[in-house]
Amino acid sequence: MKKKITIFGSTGSIGDSTLDLVKSHPEKYEIVGLTINNNYKKLIKQVNSFKPKIVSINDTESYKKFKEINQNQSLKVVNGKDCYDEILDYKTDMVVAAITGSTGLMPVVKAAQKGIPIALANKESLVCSGSLITSIAKQNGSIILPVDSEHNAIFQVLDSKNRSKVSKLILTASGGPFLNKETKDLVDITPEQAVKHPNWSMGKKISVDSATMMNKGLELIEAHFLFEMPHQKIDVIIHPESIIHSCVEYDDGSILSQMGTPDMRIPISFVLAYPDRISNSVKKLELGKVKKLTFLEPDLKKFPCLELAYEALKIKKSAPTILNAANEIAVAAFLSSKIKYLSIPRLVEKTLNKASFSNINSIKDVIEIDKNSRQIATSMVISGKY
Ligand SMILES: NC(=O)c1ccc[n+]([C@@H]2O[C@H](COP(=O)([O-])OP(=O)(O)OC[C@H]3O[C@@H](n4cnc5c(N)ncnc54)[C@H](OP(=O)(O)O)[C@@H]3O)[C@@H](O)[C@H]2O)c1
Repeated sequence: MKKKITIFGSTGSIGDSTLDLVKSHPEKYEIVGLTINNNYKKLIKQVNSFKPKIVSINDTESYKKFKEINQNQSLKVVNGKDCYDEILDYKTDMVVAAITGSTGLMPVVKAAQKGIPIALANKESLVCSGSLITSIAKQNGSIILPVDSEHNAIFQVLDSKNRSKVSKLILTASGGPFLNKETKDLVDITPEQAVKHPNWSMGKKISVDSATMMNKGLELIEAHFLFEMPHQKIDVIIHPESIIHSCVEYDDGSILSQMGTPDMRIPISFVLAYPDRISNSVKKLELGKVKKLTFLEPDLKKFPCLELAYEALKIKKSAPTILNAANEIAVAAFLSSKIKYLSIPRLVEKTLNKASFSNINSIKDVIEIDKNSRQIATSMVISGKY
């Protein structure tokens, strides 16, 4: 029996890598559903190659254009935000959550409620909703398999029989494109410079997050909720080569890590095949050619976003939701040249300062807090007062 896959965010970087693997293993996987925002031209190519049963296009104009050019009469084409139930009514064995930002929350919630295994790339959904998502998944028998290379590495080396003997999770970080720049050199950084990651090829939002190291901050929060680990037991270490994807330290001093070429098709192969393993065409790591691996402590002054994430995790309650929402607004404003690069952490910090922290008891609370925080951050972008 082939595994039936639905990809939320199929036209992005993670979507591309997932479809590349599906294409290499037609005997193992078939595509049931694909969803996108507006890249209908790319979607039509994916539809012709993978023959899904249902597609969803969020943007209404793009939906109409797709309908005009689509030749496949048996394909169900839906539009808008509230079609996740309809998509998941088509039998799916695994959901790949690859939408960027907290917009990707509801597909994850719906898949978790239906007990469908989730390959989770969309870290923002976990950051903004915290243990709500993991408990909905647990209650309904859904498993969350981390796609993020760091969490995937930890998942691979976490010895479930000795969870109580884990002394630390160590998240590795490349340090992004500005690791060796001074803060004064970051004043006039352009979006084009910020999205050029030295090791990974990714979507724009996560690339900017990697440059500011908010990505590592979001991953810190993701690791806390995913592995139920207190913040004091999660460290971040800069490892510019991106060969070691993260580590688990045990009480006896052993540190276990997962290594590999920095290519997202490796963690995606792992989650697609779990608990089995499949091959892929990623160039294997040749340790003799790597020669050296380097590590250094992160500079929290140079990367204040990472410190803000640590603070939000310490506060808990709604702080991670607010941090995430403010960061999404700040990154979008930077990418559209409305604010400067160094204003990203300032905007996030000011939004956190203006907000009051409340308990999160439901997905409705998450949506409300996310919306309010976006309003606060957006009004600061408009007024220029931050
Ligand atoms: N890329 C990586 O290597 C990587 C690694 C680890 C984790 N992640 C995480 O994976 C997620 C996706 O990252 P990515 O790099 O693949 O992003 P990306 O290249 O920007 O792709 C985002 C995908 O989401 C869709 N999308 C965006 N807004 C949407 C909306 N409002 N409604 C429906 N669909 C929407 C996009 O559709 P359109 O193409 O139509 O806009 C696209 O298919 C992020 O949460 C990121 O943090 C990525």
